[in-house]
Amino acid sequence: MSELANSTFNAIGVIGAGQMGAGIAQVLAQYGIQVFLFDIDEHQLKKAFAGMEKSLQRLKEKGRVTEDVSQVLTRVQPVTSLEDLKTADLVIEAASENRDIKKKIFHQLDLLLKPTAIIGSNTSSISITELAASTKRPQNFIGIHFMNPVPLMKLVEVIGGELTSKETFDRVDTLLALIEKQTIRSKDYSGFIVNRILMPMINEAVYALYESVGTKEDIDRGMKLGTNQPMGPLELADFIGLDTCLAIMEVLHDGLGDTKYRPCPLLKNYVAAGLLGRKTGRGFYDYASAK
Ligand code: CAA
Repeated sequence: MSELANSTFNAIGVIGAGQMGAGIAQVLAQYGIQVFLFDIDEHQLKKAFAGMEKSLQRLKEKGRVTEDVSQVLTRVQPVTSLEDLKTADLVIEAASENRDIKKKIFHQLDLLLKPTAIIGSNTSSISITELAASTKRPQNFIGIHFMNPVPLMKLVEVIGGELTSKETFDRVDTLLALIEKQTIRSKDYSGFIVNRILMPMINEAVYALYESVGTKEDIDRGMKLGTNQPMGPLELADFIGLDTCLAIMEVLHDGLGDTKYRPCPLLKNYVAAGLLGRKTGRGFYDYASAK
């Protein structure tokens, strides 16, 4: 482990073993940090380890990871009780994009973590100030928004709440530099910078499909070939998860109060039908046959 890691955070807890939580845990472990990966669902934890292993193998083939994959994974400890996180110097929450679930977790964490520990949220849109208010340590609370897939994406958006201290910003900046992420700062308004711009584009692509402006393939090809995006917006929505996209649009709509953020009815229908994208095998595209 590097000295920088030692002087900043010895152990970091990650809450939620979905694609974001697993990606965050993996990257921290790649850089020598001891991680506790928490999820209430043991099956989800197993899935997360299989995903981290696959990703690390791909990175090792490219020489971006030099250590043995199994060695990196020894630094990620799966845990199913929040109590197991009590020695962590930082906990990064990556649970579902639901403010009540998050607030409940933060309230519990606040009671068990040491007073100097920082709580970070990977929320993609919810107010950091509001989430911080569910704890008695708003000065030690910060938004640390990673992008998916975490091991490949360079960016992390850092969001302070009204009461986040400079020391908290500094400690988190040091960590993000250590794990070689580039950062941007956003003010604490719904959706921050990236999702405020990305999600309306995705929602507009869903409207274009809903209004039969083009087929899903042509909408995606248009944006891929016409604007040099690596994935078309509908393909990207399936990758992120349609439930997450809808939740973010709802936060933008409620938080900014402008009708331009209203979620497309087709997006709502897909989510109601459980067609959530890659994670359920079907969203705008069908992935079941590719498995
Ligand atoms: N770990 C390690 N390697 C991975 C990987 C992972 N998780 N995922 C893909 N790769 C590797 C592949 O093995 C492949 O390697 P080779 O070139 O050696 O074959 C390489 O990356 C490219 O992958 P693919 O060929 O499968 O596909 P691609 O060229 O389209 O790249 C991608 C995949 C990097 C995901 C790219 O499509 C991309 O950048 N898409 C856009 C992602 C994006 O916009 N993310 C942000 C979403 S918004 C967000 O996260 C915020 C939020 O709050 C919702």
